This record gives sequence, structure tokens and C-alpha cells, in this order.
Amino acid sequence: MKEVDLVIRGARIVSPDRIIEASVAIAGEQIVAVGHDDTMPPAREEMRADGLYLLPGAIDSHVHFRDPGYPNKETWKTGSAAAAMGGVTTVFEMPNTNPATGTLEALRMKQKAAEASYCDFGIHGLLGDDTVDRLEELLDAGVTSFKAFVGNTFGNLPAPTDGALLEGFEKLAPLGIRTVVHAENSSILFRRQKKMQDAGRIDAMAHLAARPAVAEIEAIGRVLTLAEWTGARVHIAHHSAADSLFLLREAKRRGVDVTAETCPQYLLLNTDHMLKLGGIMRLNPPIREARHNQPLWDALMDGTLDMIATDHAPHAPEEKTRESIWDCDCGFPGVETQMPLMLTEVNRGRASLMDYVRWSSVAPAKAWGLYGTKGVIAPGAHADIAFVDMERAGILSQNKLQSISKISPWNGRPVKGYPLHTLLSCLSSVIVGRDRIDPAAERVSAILAADFRPSEAAIEELCKREFAKMKEEEED
Ligand code: NCD
Ligand code: ZN
Repeated sequence: MKEVDLVIRGARIVSPDRIIEASVAIAGEQIVAVGHDDTMPPAREEMRADGLYLLPGAIDSHVHFRDPGYPNKETWKTGSAAAAMGGVTTVFEMPNTNPATGTLEALRMKQKAAEASYCDFGIHGLLGDDTVDRLEELLDAGVTSFKAFVGNTFGNLPAPTDGALLEGFEKLAPLGIRTVVHAENSSILFRRQKKMQDAGRIDAMAHLAARPAVAEIEAIGRVLTLAEWTGARVHIAHHSAADSLFLLREAKRRGVDVTAETCPQYLLLNTDHMLKLGGIMRLNPPIREARHNQPLWDALMDGTLDMIATDHAPHAPEEKTRESIWDCDCGFPGVETQMPLMLTEVNRGRASLMDYVRWSSVAPAKAWGLYGTKGVIAPGAHADIAFVDMERAGILSQNKLQSISKISPWNGRPVKGYPLHTLLSCLSSVIVGRDRIDPAAERVSAILAADFRPSEAAIEELCKREFAKMKEEEED
């Protein structure tokens, strides 16, 4: 048998319908065999992964890496380092950079910046009134998909008119290209925000009041109507409200090709946290009342929501902590904390590891046409693998994030279940993790220097206390 680069032995491999014990052989950037230990080919390197779970690397459909335009907030190097540390092996990056990714020139700038990426990536091009005539050109030049900012947000890109959105969908439907939609009704948001501002409101709750759930309901309804009419594939970004889930359910039942993501912040945070944290929590759509949390979990469980994305939206700490809520930039980093946060919920019995893999990797791989190549640990797939220790506990710390944006509502939150290493196929079988690295891979060594995963007894103790507290709160 031909020698391969790496054999991983003794791990448990997770897919949406089973967990099996098997060894994995990797050659170059591909998985070439999964099977019994005895059947593995000879390998240049061997690695034992006893006690660890191997998950297909997470695929994050929604990150903002900020280059070109705002390298003070994030760069491809820091953003993708954060992804790698968080078990995320593929990201789809958003077009609200400066210039926005709606021209060939802007796309080339982004592609150049993305050469620094540690992880695999796709680029969402901009779908707006000014770009609708350039969609084919952008696809030919390498965008994988499009994003329409139907709701106003960071970058202040004008929302596409309904006419332009319809035309865009008509063009993309026969090509099978999916469009991500930020679904909020801009006119409602602008009027409400002005009303709040005129009334002198500068508190964090005014942001939520300015962006009521009806803005999301209306926009999702409109987008689904256009998608159904044209046959276009659409993807609802950061679904935040319980009240708009029925629209997804009905559209899916009718056969509309819609996928939808939610994010850890909509599942695990609510206005109680907003009252404590203020501007740090400002994001679009807003984090809502606690009554929205459980229905979003239920929707993930029953498949109404397909996947977890992060909306990794880094800003500088000083941009998040200004006195008036209207002066705080919207969004916060998330690509590095998604996996430990969600694994913690798995550990608490809220979902299975198999459910998690469906949301974090399988569903996004299918939505973006990558399934088989990604989203699975099987021969022929890319060697994109997260090595997970479900027993490892620690406290998330914003200061230790790889992102430039060292400010996070998750700061101080206890978690149990970590991606210990990440195997990134695009770096040709380099293991990124604390304990081991291919010395040839100089460019990832900086990532390894960071150790944000303490396991000291004191921290374990603190976690136990925090978990007990969370459980109590749940039972109340
Ligand atoms: C995002 C950003 O900062 O780019 N902000 C946010 O509040 N979510 C933009 C977006 O995804 O809406
Ligand atoms: Zn958005």
C-alpha cells in the first residue's frame, strides 16, 4: 500500500446519524481511508486521538473578515486564525467591506487579502441595485454566492429595491446560486430608530425597540415570495425571532429552496444580558427577549432552521463601548467561540453531538454545494477535521481571542467541550492545535502560541459552580 501523510488512530468519528470508532488516513489535502485500525496504510506520521471525537470541520456561512476596508477591526489572517482555533475550517465572507464586494476590482482586492487565510473560504458577492447587472461577471471571477442587505446594517449599504431583488433572483435561479439575505425591513428600522433618537433614548434597549420582530417577519415573507416566484435559492441570515419561524416552515413545506441559519447569541443570550452588557451586545438583528430562545432551539431540532453560523462581526473595543447605543458599532466576534458554546449545550443534554454536526457542518456543506467534499469524514473528502475533547472545561476569555476584536459578550462564560486541534486541508495536512504542529508550517505557529484552554482544578471548580447556577436559572 502507498504511504500516506497521516493516520489518526483511536478516535470516534461523528456524522449526523452515528458515532463510530475508526482510524482515518490522510494524503495531501484529502481523506483517503476511514476504517479499522488494521486496514490503515503505512503513514509518514501517526497520531493517537484516544478519547477525542473527530468532527467534520465547522462551515460558517456568515463571517466578516473586514479586509479590504477595516483592517483595524480584523484581517483575513486574524479572522481565519480565530476560525482555526474554533474548529471552523471553512468560512463564507460577507461583502460589506470597503469597497463592498460588488465590482470586479473590489473582488480582486478581497481575493488578494484572502491569500493570507489559514482556512478555506467562499466569498459572498453583493446583490444590490448597482450590482444586479454584474452578477455573472462576479461569479466568473470567483464569488461563490451573493448577499443582499435587505435590512440596514454596518457599512450602510442601501437595501436593494424589491425590483432589483426580483431581477437578481431571476438571474440566479437558473444558475442554482444561493443568495444570503439579511432580512429586516429597512424602512421600519429607519423610522423607528429616528423616533427613539428624537425621544432622547440612548440606552441599549432602544436598539431592540428600533428593530421589532415585525421587521424580520415582513422581510422574510417578502424574500420568500420572490424566491418562490423565481425558483431562486435563498438563505436567511441570522434568524433571530420566534415569530418569523412559521414563514420558513410553510415555505419549506411548499418546496421553496430556502435554508436558514441562527447563531449562538440568539439561542443563548437575551435582553437580560443586554441590560448588563449594553453596547457590547448591539447587533443586527437585535438579541431579543428570552421568549425567543427556546423556539429557536426547537426550530433547529425540527429542521426549520438548518444550521449554526456565527455572524462573526468584529469591531474595536472602543467602537463597542461608547455612551450612546447609536454610536456603538453593531456586531461582535464569534467564529472562535461557537463550537465550545454549542458543545457545552451538548454536554448539558440539549442536543446530541450528531445534531451539532448536522448544524455546524453537514447542512452548510449541502447548502453551498460542498457536501461530500466537505461536511463529512469519509474517503474523498477534504481533510477538514476538528478534534474535540468533550471533557475539557474552561472559561472563555476575550483577551485570549485570536480576533483583533477583544470584546465579547461571552467573556467569562464557562464552557465544557473544546476543539483541541483543527486539521485544515488547505494547509496540506497541518495540524493546528496546542500540542502538535508540523514545523514546516511556519505561518500557523503564531496561532499555536496562544493557550486559552486552561484545565486547572480551580477553573474546573468554577465551571461546576457556574453550571449549577445555569441549571438553577433554567429550572426557575
Ligand atoms: C455586521 C457587521 O458588523 O458587519 N453587524 C451585525 O450587527 N450583525 C453586519 C451584519 O451582518 O448585519
Ligand atoms: Zn447581516
